[in-house]
Amino acid sequence: MTRLVITALGLSLAFCGGEKRAQELQLFEKSAFDKIVDGKNISLYTLHNKNGMTVQLTNYGARIVDLWVPSKDGKFKDVVMGFETIDAYLKANDIYNGPVVGRYGNRIGKGNFTLNGVKYQLTINDGENHLHGGTGGFGQMIWDVVSAAENEIKMRYISPDGEEGYPGNLELEVNYTLTENNELVIRYLAKTDAPTVINPTSHSYFNLHGINSSSTNSHILTIYADKYTPTDKNLIPTGEISSIENTPLDFRRATPIGDRINFSFEALVSGRGYDHNWILMKNGGSGEIELAAEVYEPSTGIVLKVLTDQPAIQFYSGNFMTGNDVGKRGNINNYRTGIALETQNYPDAPNHANFPSAILNPGETYSQTCIYKFELKK
Ligand code: GAL
Repeated sequence: MTRLVITALGLSLAFCGGEKRAQELQLFEKSAFDKIVDGKNISLYTLHNKNGMTVQLTNYGARIVDLWVPSKDGKFKDVVMGFETIDAYLKANDIYNGPVVGRYGNRIGKGNFTLNGVKYQLTINDGENHLHGGTGGFGQMIWDVVSAAENEIKMRYISPDGEEGYPGNLELEVNYTLTENNELVIRYLAKTDAPTVINPTSHSYFNLHGINSSSTNSHILTIYADKYTPTDKNLIPTGEISSIENTPLDFRRATPIGDRINFSFEALVSGRGYDHNWILMKNGGSGEIELAAEVYEPSTGIVLKVLTDQPAIQFYSGNFMTGNDVGKRGNINNYRTGIALETQNYPDAPNHANFPSAILNPGETYSQTCIYKFELKK
């Protein structure tokens, strides 16, 4: 195992204005991620702020590798699942540990859609459907690093016309900024040379215990949404928009994830737990960045707030985690030990005229902002 241990003293001198912190961060060394694949360089980048919050990212999939935040015992916890080396990421069973997924995050039914009268067939990689951009989605690509600084990194990926079946050459830039308010701000900007569809999202599996194989069922969740998009048993939206009132999908009041996860409610049965698209109350209409969800783990005091300008959020409760991947520090990705909170347009929007448009035309700029903000409740 290759990792760099930064001690409390080192950290406090470097980031904390001399204040000693009785903790250590187990950061990975760049050498564990330096690799050339198909002539392109993969590496590891470290962002930190003055509070000691630290994020490591790789340009393989514009991916978050670790994310260290303060917990109530005075130590820092790494709250995202992942692996210790680039080779482990390249071999992983679950390829969705921390990347930006796209061109279309989430599912497109039967992998096809019609745009301006032309039918496009995408790669099928999830039963009979298309998921997270296909087998060669953005999370499997090596991105160009445009700039990297102490608290900010910008990466770019140019997706060629026809890649995974999508029309148009698409240029996507993702900017990660770590603020002094313990926010990881993720900004997406894209343009295309032909009409296409787009819905990138960040796909970390969070565990606010710190990554230690503990169930995320104890996390207390709030989602600021009153509707969701029901699906068929393969998680493709039917096109209906339903109220969450009197269902186990109602998270308007903070509720432990595990309280209702096994209810025999139809949507929970098809999702094998939570794996749904909640329509946010403000529904992206204002273009403002607003609070979408909030997660709190009582044992560590860590609070994660998710803010977005997007109309919806997918909350996935780790129902497909198999235990087949052994990740950082020996963590096993057991059933329901990580949750994803993916800010996004609705799944399968290209096939539903009543969903917000996912079309990007030449001359337009796609933009999205997602903020993962960390706080402590003592
Ligand atoms: C989620 C999706 C789940 C599952 C997971 C990856 O975003 O909602 O259904 O596919 O990604 O295992």
